[in-house]
Order: sequence, then C-alpha cells, then structure tokens
Amino acid sequence: MKVLMVCLGNICRSPIADGLLRKKVLEKGLDIEVDSAGTISLHQGQAPDNRMVETARKNGTDISMLRARQFKASDFDTFDYIFAMDVSNKKNILDLARTKADHNKVYMLLGELTNQEETSVPDPYYGTQKDFDHVYDLVDQATDILIKNLITRQLNIKN
Ligand code: 4NP
Repeated sequence: MKVLMVCLGNICRSPIADGLLRKKVLEKGLDIEVDSAGTISLHQGQAPDNRMVETARKNGTDISMLRARQFKASDFDTFDYIFAMDVSNKKNILDLARTKADHNKVYMLLGELTNQEETSVPDPYYGTQKDFDHVYDLVDQATDILIKNLITRQLNIKN
C-alpha cells in the first residue's frame, strides 16, 4: 500500500504528516510506503521549514531528511491513498485527476479524525510556534487513527 500526504508547499504540513506516518508504520512493522508532495513547485528540493523540523524534533521525530517535490498527475498511478491537508489542496489535486478512479483516491487527512470531510489542517507558514504546535497535534492524532484504518483497509484488500 502506498500513501501520499499533500499540502501547498510540501515544507510544513505534509512533511510532518509524512514523517509521523512513516514512523508509526515502522514501529508497527507494516508494509506501507509513505511520501509527500506540494501542489506548488516553489520549494522543490528544499528541506522542510526549520520551524516544522524543530517542532518534530522536540516531539521525537526527525523529518530533516525529507525534500519537497511537486504533486503530479502520475502520483494518482503510484499511490493508493492521497491525503490533502486543506480544502484548497484537495481542489488543486482534484484539478489534475483524469478519471473517477483518480478522484476516489483523494481524502482529507482530518477526515480520519473528525469524520467531517471539509476539516482542514491550518496553514502555519505565516504563523507562530503555537501554530506549528497545533499542526503537530492535529496531524499526530489524525495519523494515529489513520494507521488503524489503513491496517483494516489492508486486511480488507488482502481478504
Ligand atoms: P505548507 O506551508 O503548505 O504546509 O508546506 C506553506 C509553505 C509555503 C507557502 C505556503 C504554505 N508559500 O506560500 O510559499
């Protein structure tokens, strides 16, 4: 199974979602590949924002090795599940969808947490440390639930 986390720049929200899910997948010994991307190319090749790296580090996760890349239509072929951080990311992803099957791969990350499809992880880029801490908490909670849901889906697929 392959999972892609997507935000705008791929330097704040999707890297922490990527890093936390990777860590949880490893801890549970699951066969799930995790990656992240941004809908814009502006930060392509860059490491995550220092404020996100530090927020992750103080909570025990290293995301400094991740590098930003832009979401592309062929990601629909590579990934089974694509999680958008906010509604605008979701729209930008869906704009590149070619088929109904592509559309059906796109979810909101916080949909796992709240069952409310339109709930967004707020963009912390112009915010303060408090905003980065809030992003971390939301994504940590959502990825805890997501990993349980992915295990169930994986079992469903295998059965
Ligand atoms: P992200 O945050 O989408 O969570 O990576 C942002 C990063 C960069 C910009 C906006 C949001 N930007 O405008 O460059």
